[in-house]
Amino acid sequence: MAAQQEPQQETYPPPPDLARDAVAQPELYERADADRLAFWHDQAKELLSWETEPTEVLDWSRAPFARWFADGRLNVAHNCVDRHVEAGHGDRVAIHWEGEPGDRRSITYAELGREVRRAANALEALGVRRGDRVALYLPMIPEAVVAMLACARIGAPHSVVFGGFSADALRSRVDDAEAVVVVTADGGYRRGAPAGLKANVDEALGDPARGGGSVRTVLVVRRTGQDVGWDDDRDVWWHDAVDGASEEHEAPALEAEHPLFILYTSGTTGKPKGILHTSGGYLTQAAYTHRNVFDVRPESDVYWCAADIGWVTGHSYIVYGPLANGVTQVMYEGTPDTPTRERWWEVVERYGVTLLYTAPTTVRTFMKWGAELLEGHDLSSLRLIGSVGEPINPEAWTWYRTHVGSGRTPVVDTWWQTETGAIMISPLPGVTTTKPGSAQRTLPGISAAVLDDAGEPVTDGQAGYLVLTEPWPSMLRGIWGDDDRYVETYWSRFPGRYFAGDGARLDEDGDVWLLGRVDDVMNVSGHRLSTAEIESALVSHHRVAEAAVVGASDDTTGQAVCAFVILRAREDAEDAEDAEDEGVGGEDGEALVAELRDHVAKEIGPIAKPRQVLVVAELPKTRSGKIMRRLLRDVAEGRETGDVTTLADSSVMGTIRAGMGGPA
Ligand code: WT7
Repeated sequence: MAAQQEPQQETYPPPPDLARDAVAQPELYERADADRLAFWHDQAKELLSWETEPTEVLDWSRAPFARWFADGRLNVAHNCVDRHVEAGHGDRVAIHWEGEPGDRRSITYAELGREVRRAANALEALGVRRGDRVALYLPMIPEAVVAMLACARIGAPHSVVFGGFSADALRSRVDDAEAVVVVTADGGYRRGAPAGLKANVDEALGDPARGGGSVRTVLVVRRTGQDVGWDDDRDVWWHDAVDGASEEHEAPALEAEHPLFILYTSGTTGKPKGILHTSGGYLTQAAYTHRNVFDVRPESDVYWCAADIGWVTGHSYIVYGPLANGVTQVMYEGTPDTPTRERWWEVVERYGVTLLYTAPTTVRTFMKWGAELLEGHDLSSLRLIGSVGEPINPEAWTWYRTHVGSGRTPVVDTWWQTETGAIMISPLPGVTTTKPGSAQRTLPGISAAVLDDAGEPVTDGQAGYLVLTEPWPSMLRGIWGDDDRYVETYWSRFPGRYFAGDGARLDEDGDVWLLGRVDDVMNVSGHRLSTAEIESALVSHHRVAEAAVVGASDDTTGQAVCAFVILRAREDAEDAEDAEDEGVGGEDGEALVAELRDHVAKEIGPIAKPRQVLVVAELPKTRSGKIMRRLLRDVAEGRETGDVTTLADSSVMGTIRAGMGGPA
């Protein structure tokens, strides 16, 4: 990780009218600095409605296991829906939903409330009790939001599994959380075609010997109308269970620390981590950050976060933050190029979107498609645009501001993680003079530092490790079922401080520049993938003896998955059908590479499919047998190989390059 020097950049002060009347003013920093815990206490009371207001703020006596607002009681779903109706905003649209084929629904807060209460009753009628886990495996349809809120309402933590994950990935997540119900759909639309979901659920749960045994019921939303397999003892149509259910449902007051959801994310080992979030602190910070970072005016804004509900961005910035703030939002089911590459700009125009939140990879895709596609559209409603998921390079930042923000809107680059639950580092749009490519400052109430290997703060713009130095309300409360891994992963590298796994440096103004992951986690299109998980998928293929995976830089996706594999010797390959493929070169080699790429997609999901699979004779290893991924990254990125002196066999890199016919 080398400190890079970026050229002198243009900076952008907040537009004067926004500076004057922005929701977040400079005094927010002052209040938080004066008394951090009192500040969070005020946010909790001001932004949320509590059945019992908390008198305690933070209990850190069992650090790193935190309790926030522990004597408070609230209902998260009530906060996200019912209270807005009670306050007279029932007719406000909560969600303008647009399906990929062009079907549309606008759902008011009053309607959303009725749906959530019906679904809560339906789940209870299916025997779901407080504390039971419910897995959701759904496309981007309103029922996904309804199901999450219904779970929150009855205190059954949800575990949303991204619809692009495979049956195997779904099964392992269902098993880890011991979910009792899976909510899914027959399918969803993706690039103009219905993609199956129920079929994957059937595959995941079909053979009890392999897992899935905790699931009693599969609740199925009819979305595409495609044919689905059916198990009468297990499967129930959503419309049968929910449509006829009563719309009266008393929201119980739950403890602030009641578990709200588990969300699995990739770590440095093959096994995904179930990140646990709880209610009061999480909702406080989701609402606080959404309101202040996006300068939210619920009466007039139309907000659009173009994430998927399967990721934390969808949890905090489609469901909990925006709905807690009572805003009107757009939700879109499909891809940006269906039916044409102008789909997004049509959506912005149609609903008059004012606030847009997306990922750098999408911005770079639009850049590649060309600014002409935006020119025929009226994007004047946009007043603030945000970025999340990976470092945004200054060129993409500037293109985003120029073409999407019409050269006038603030851009907020927001750094956070599944584990942090909500935004931690970001400009405040009415306060911060923005710098393309920097996430800039910890938000009021948040404390971070950049440390060197010895745990000392770095100086002079050197690169170091990003840590969070104080607990925060929406912090993860642990890893589901694995307290030791929680302590080990996040709190051991620098005792007493949270290790984020990201490299960063501070510039001369003290602004933070994120430099990407420092561990074996890749970031592909803003999705976190573990090298170890993809390696184990590859070695589960009968032809593969050993695999090493690296994230190589990619112009569009940020990083791309590159795999190096060593094949098993012919006599080892037990599989008879194998006998016909000869060697690895030529067409057979190509067929095998294609098969391995598909195998990863099948094991984990299409997002994990390697961009490249390179068959090699050996892998570079240290004398202690550790694969030197740094060197493989050099190869994958077409660079000269760096320092090879720690290799057990220094000729290996030459062999790899020779076998590939030079840099890939
Ligand atoms: C990792 C977390 C946060 C929601 C989506 C991803 C990277 C995230 C930024 C940013 C630079 C970023 C980090 C982080 N990341 N936002 N604005 N600038 N890097 O959540 O899947 O938990 O991934 O995404 O590397 O550790 P996630």
